[in-house]
Amino acid sequence: MNPIICLFRLAITFTFRTMVLWVFGYGSLLWKAGFEYDERMIGYIKDYRRVFHQASTDHRGTPEYPGRVVTLEAKEGEVTWGAAYRVSGHDNEKLVLSYLDLREQEYDQKSYVNLYTADSSETPALCNVLVYIGSSEISRNKFWAGPAPLEVMAEQIARAVGPSGPNYEYLFLLEKSLRELDCVDEDISELAEAVRKYMNSSNGPNSSDDVSGTNGTTETQSISRKQQHDVCNGV
Ligand code: SIN
Repeated sequence: MNPIICLFRLAITFTFRTMVLWVFGYGSLLWKAGFEYDERMIGYIKDYRRVFHQASTDHRGTPEYPGRVVTLEAKEGEVTWGAAYRVSGHDNEKLVLSYLDLREQEYDQKSYVNLYTADSSETPALCNVLVYIGSSEISRNKFWAGPAPLEVMAEQIARAVGPSGPNYEYLFLLEKSLRELDCVDEDISELAEAVRKYMNSSNGPNSSDDVSGTNGTTETQSISRKQQHDVCNGV
């Protein structure tokens, strides 16, 4: 065989064998990766903060009553803690990417970031880590919910329910996951506290005017929502 072709083939084989994908999770990917991975690395990304500014109509809300889930907002000097997952092998990578592209379909942006760890705050532990972001570009991101007063967000989260379950469960699971990682995110703790307060008040979602229309169950979801739920249950 022509040595050039032989070398080319070797290079292609080597590239595919050593191909590695790292995905950074800062929301539901923390408690449910939903795919097989080889390694999980706890760390943080720089110049972003975690915000509940993304609407959810496919997991934790419906088009009629959207929930709120996290996205990242660029902010110099801030850091966002989370976990990066390593997936190796060309076929696995393709499988995981198609799973995530469906699961995170309401996020309009895929970015590549550096990951730092507690031991390496100057030199990144990982480069080119994939992260899904719902940008604040309303022309591109139709699920952008934007900021709102704490009490307004708390009420929305307390009441919304989607195919993956109640919106408040997403927030509480996030709070728990961050606690388990030993990461304090004061904004998340404050929002979780406001939701608990709202739920314990007489206006809570168990009162008669349940605006989500599901009263905490997902019975009224359509078949396609049910199918999505089966793929992404718990997201
Ligand atoms: C993530 O977890 O990284 C993205 C946001 C989400 O799916 O909750």
